[in-house]
Amino acid sequence: MPVGPSIHELHFPDAPNVETSIPGPRSEELLARQRELDSAAVAYPRDVPIALEEGRGSTIRDADGNVYLDFFAGIGVLNVGHSNPYVLDAVRAQEEKLVHTIDFPTEARIEFIERMNDIAPPGLADEMKIVFGGPSGSDAVEGSIKLAKHNTGRHAMLAFEGSYHGGTAGALSLTGGRSYKEGYEPMLPGVVHAPYPNPLGERMTGDATAVCPRSAADCCGQPSCARALDRVQSMIEDPYAGQEKPAAVWVEPIQGEGGVVVPPEGFLRGLRDLCDDNDVMLICDEIQSGFGRTGEWWASERAGVTPDAITMAKGIGGVGLPLGATMYHEKFDTWEPGGHVGTFRGNVPAMRAGVAAIDYVESHDLLSHATALGEYIRDRLREADHPALVEVRGEGLFVGAEFRDDDGRPLKEVVKGVQRDCLERGVLVWKAGRHGNVLRLLPPLVTTREQAEVGLDVVVDAVEAQPVPE
Ligand SMILES: Cc1ncc(COP(=O)(O)O)c(C=O)c1O
Repeated sequence: MPVGPSIHELHFPDAPNVETSIPGPRSEELLARQRELDSAAVAYPRDVPIALEEGRGSTIRDADGNVYLDFFAGIGVLNVGHSNPYVLDAVRAQEEKLVHTIDFPTEARIEFIERMNDIAPPGLADEMKIVFGGPSGSDAVEGSIKLAKHNTGRHAMLAFEGSYHGGTAGALSLTGGRSYKEGYEPMLPGVVHAPYPNPLGERMTGDATAVCPRSAADCCGQPSCARALDRVQSMIEDPYAGQEKPAAVWVEPIQGEGGVVVPPEGFLRGLRDLCDDNDVMLICDEIQSGFGRTGEWWASERAGVTPDAITMAKGIGGVGLPLGATMYHEKFDTWEPGGHVGTFRGNVPAMRAGVAAIDYVESHDLLSHATALGEYIRDRLREADHPALVEVRGEGLFVGAEFRDDDGRPLKEVVKGVQRDCLERGVLVWKAGRHGNVLRLLPPLVTTREQAEVGLDVVVDAVEAQPVPE
C-alpha cells in the first residue's frame, strides 16, 4: 500500500487559473508593503511579481486567488510538492513533542541518518557519516570545506567556472558567478576555477583523445570534456601551477544556476581518477541536483562515480523545512568533538520531513516518474518552433532550454519574455545560465503527466511567441 495520497490528489484541481491582471490588487498591496519594510536584497518578486498564499502539490495560489502550476518549486526544494499531507503529518507529530535538540540523539535524527544511508550512492552506503551544521545549502558547503581542509591539511580549493555553491564566505569563494561576489572581495585565498565542459561547446572540433588525461579507451571523446580535465590535471599536478595542490575539487554533477549544464559522461569519472591519483577529495555539490531531482537519488550516480563527500540541502527537509548536511565516507570522520558546529544542527521536524519524503518518493515510484516526465517535458520543448532555441537538456525533472542568436549571442530577453508570458497564463518558470539565457524548469516530482501537458502547452506557446531581439 503506498503511503499518503496518490500524486493526483495533492494539487489544487483548477491550475492554471489566472483571473486577475498580474499582479492582482491584493498582490500589489503586499508587494508595496514588502518594498517598504523588507530588505532591498529581496530578488524573486522582481521577476515574478505576486504575493503567495497557499501551496498544494505542484500548484500554488496567490493572494488574489489565481492558481499556478509551480514549475520551479521553491527553486528545486519541493520535490514531494507543497505541503505534502503525508510529510506534514510526520512534521506535526514531531512538533507536538520536540522541536530543537542541537545534536542530542533522538529517534528522528537516528532514523534520518539511517534512511540517508539507505539512499546513499554505492561506495558511501554503509560506510558513510553525515555532519549537520547550519540549515542551508551554503552551510553544508562550509562544512565540506572544513572537512577537506581538516583531512588533507591543505587549504587550496578547486571549483568550476559557471558554478554556484552559495552565499556564505567559503561557498561564495567557490562560486563561479562574479555578480554574487562583487563588492564582497577579497574571497578566501587559494581558490581556482577550471572550465566546466559546456554542452554547446561540444560543437567544437578536435581530437579529444590528444588532450584528455584519461587513456584513449576511457576518453569519452568530447573535446570540451578533455579540455576541462586537462586544465584540472595541470592545476592539480603541475609543480608550477601557481599555488599548492587543492584539498578538494567541488563540482556540481549538473550545474544548476550555471544553466542546467549536463557534462559529458567522462567528466565526473575523469575527475574521480585525477582526485584518486593525487590524494585530492572529490566533493559533489548535490544541493540542487540531488534528492531525486534527476530521477536518481543523486546525480553523481548517473556517472557511476562515488564522491568522497556530498553536500545536500533544499529537498532533504521534505516540505521546505531548512536542513543542510554533508555526507562523507567514514574514513574522513576525523573531527574532534565540536570540529564542525551550529546551533541549528538538529532540526528534528525537518529530519522527520526528510524521512517521510523518502518514504513518499519510494512508495510512489517517483524516481521513475521523474525520469519519464522529464523526457516528456524535454521532447515537448524540443518541438517548440523558435530560431534561437539552441539546446534543450537536463536529466529527470532538472530541465534547461538555452537561447542564443545566429551569432551565438546569449538572449536573456527571450527567457524573460517566456517567464512573463507563462506567469500571466498561470505557469511559474525560472531562469538560469551565465547570461540568464537558459529557461529552467524544476517541477516537483509529484507533477502529473496531465499537469505537464497543460503546463508545456503554455510554455511552448510562450517560447514561440517571443521575437528574436535585433
Ligand atoms: C548547487 C548549489 N549549491 C549550493 C547552494 C546554496 O544553497 P542555499 O541557498 O540553501 O544556501 C545552491 C542554491 O541554489 C545550489 O544550487
